[in-house]
Amino acid sequence: MREVVVSAPAKINLCLGVGAARPDGFHPLATVYQAIGLYDQVIARSVDDGTFSVAVEGDDRLSISEVPVDGTNLAMRAARLLAARHGIADGVHLTIIKGIPVAGGMAGGSADAAGALVACDALWGTSTSREELRAVAAELGSDVPFSLVGGTAIGTGRGEVVTPAMARGSYWWVVLESEKGLSTPEVYAEFDRIHSTKPPGEPAVPDALMAALRRGDIEQLGAAMSNDLQPAALRLRPELEQSLAYGVEGSAHGAIVSGSGPSCLFLAEGQPHATQVAGWLKGYGLGPVSFAPGPVPGARVVTR
Ligand code: C5P
Repeated sequence: MREVVVSAPAKINLCLGVGAARPDGFHPLATVYQAIGLYDQVIARSVDDGTFSVAVEGDDRLSISEVPVDGTNLAMRAARLLAARHGIADGVHLTIIKGIPVAGGMAGGSADAAGALVACDALWGTSTSREELRAVAAELGSDVPFSLVGGTAIGTGRGEVVTPAMARGSYWWVVLESEKGLSTPEVYAEFDRIHSTKPPGEPAVPDALMAALRRGDIEQLGAAMSNDLQPAALRLRPELEQSLAYGVEGSAHGAIVSGSGPSCLFLAEGQPHATQVAGWLKGYGLGPVSFAPGPVPGARVVTR
């Protein structure tokens, strides 16, 4: 096999509970992830000279020039890790076609890593079990295991322990991007500063959110969404507060900063409503606006 194409979705956090930093520097999380229909494509092409390389393509509004193309690229690290695990001597050339905002709080880098794992596994015929892939994914980053699994799932540990959630209903998410991304470690550092005098409690998933998902109740879901990183993201980007308010004014059922931000998410009921909310937000000229359904499956081979 010479080439495999994988599609890997963006993630959002319907809730994101964050505790006090652990001795290893990571924060304990209690989150509900959902994969949504904004995708990066990862194309893995065989090379037999043992080299690993990566190229990034896509609309530069997504800040693709900020994605590293050296050995620090998460997709390339994923490919190397899988090759080492299976004693694969071949290299690979990866092409990433970005559809997910870079540094937007939507796990674009994690999607690329998950996509590279699935693509290289198919390319090399290594038939790695899902469980083993998840273990490799967890070594690469907190959100990478979820990017493999997709759907709606609870995340604990530092986010890497993923359990599928009982969830009904399908939703539409309007995404407002920012021209400039936010660094996840910087947002966590701001979270630590906010909590320096009053440490956060144990993170937990709100019961009301799980009840809303079990019932597929969109209004209850909108009201129950929460993000402990939002105050930190708003301190770094105060203008996002107004963006969230515009979305609610434009009839979204809920508005929240996505993960560590700065992308903002607005909950809509069906595509026509998503189109309406997106149109409202576009009227303010705040940044690129798109919309996508959720939940969708995790990283998947689309052609080989
Ligand atoms: O795991 P990942 O590489 O995505 O994390 C990026 C950074 O975000 C970490 O280096 C850490 O600073 C921060 N982080 C954290 N607690 C988590 C997840 C990420 O502090 N649970």
